[in-house]
Amino acid sequence: MGFIREDIAALEDSPIVEVWRMGASVPDVIGMWAGEPDVPTPPFICEAASKALFEGHTFYTPNRGIPELRQALIDYHRNLYGLDIPDRRIAATQSGMGAVMLVAQLMVQPGDNVVVLTPGWPNIMRAMQINGATVREAPLARGNDGWSLDLDRVFDLCDAHTRVIYTASPGNPTGWEMSREQGEALLEFARRRNIALLSDEVYHRIVDDGNAAFSMLEIARADDPVFVVNSFSKAWAMTGWRLGWVIYPDGLAPQFEKLIQFNTSGSQAFLQYGAIAALSQGEEFVQYFVGRCRRGRAVVSERLAAMPRIRAIPNSASFYAMFAVEGVRDTMAFCQRAVTEAHIGMAPGIAFGKGAEGTVRLCYAKAPELLHTAMDRLATFVADYRE
Ligand SMILES: Cc1ncc(COP(=O)(O)O)c(C=O)c1O
Repeated sequence: MGFIREDIAALEDSPIVEVWRMGASVPDVIGMWAGEPDVPTPPFICEAASKALFEGHTFYTPNRGIPELRQALIDYHRNLYGLDIPDRRIAATQSGMGAVMLVAQLMVQPGDNVVVLTPGWPNIMRAMQINGATVREAPLARGNDGWSLDLDRVFDLCDAHTRVIYTASPGNPTGWEMSREQGEALLEFARRRNIALLSDEVYHRIVDDGNAAFSMLEIARADDPVFVVNSFSKAWAMTGWRLGWVIYPDGLAPQFEKLIQFNTSGSQAFLQYGAIAALSQGEEFVQYFVGRCRRGRAVVSERLAAMPRIRAIPNSASFYAMFAVEGVRDTMAFCQRAVTEAHIGMAPGIAFGKGAEGTVRLCYAKAPELLHTAMDRLATFVADYRE
């Protein structure tokens, strides 16, 4: 393989995907490894996409998305946050992951570094690495009350080569939420040091209290170095559609036009009509889905609390539970054996970088009955588990 880029060959695969692949051959496995609901996309969204498909929306699209979708995004932000984001600051992208990759391409090159809040979704770190940057991990602290952020730790990691600070709030896998005060302190630092903030808000609707998590959009000015990435995947159960969006500083529309043109040349027109339906008619579904996630959290929290060797880490958002198991250090082996022996799929903490050592993550955006079955299996498995 001497003819390919050495750094790409050396990239580590996502340990989440490794476990997931193992589970493909286990017929009755309950897969809680990925961040994905067990409900399909609601019919009104599918119908809108299907109608658009049959109406002939099968052509190339504007790079930043069809104007109707951008307008729907403007309306969505106005309704949710009371903000007026101008069209020129919005690009619809092929997924949240795609939006992260675009920001990485825009911002980093070899020699740069990116400070990433961890535990974090591994794909973000890889996107930065693929574009030549090194990743500096800034771990949240894990305590009895859950996760907490020491901002000085983040600031101390930044130097003259730091181009981006990445935060996800609510976080994956932690479910940690950034406070407005922390957002303000980060923004002040970013302005002063001319470092970009990449605020990943794909779980913005999946919160225990209220209608949405705090967004950096609420405090950033149009000329601040702030990129907010979002996705249709989670709140609207559209993981397979691969649609997301990014809101970037004023003046960068031509850069995003170019980058999208040379990466994907835009997203599928008929899918974008589905996304418009999600934004404009989706509130009822979002409420239902978030309620279901809250029930999932209640089931999983209660069941984990009753398992003697398990210590769950409290959180208030996203749809993940994280826990440590007494006597378990190799979480990859734990998750692999959980698949083959107990037929439950979870993600090993090792996937999420510093701060996640010795933890396991599971996604509870599932039917409560299924979660009960999964918890029954986990309880039996853990009771006998020895490394
Ligand atoms: C923190 C975070 N950011 C971004 C994404 C990307 O979402 P998608 O590519 O499905 O839009 C995910 C998906 O799991 C995520 O957990």
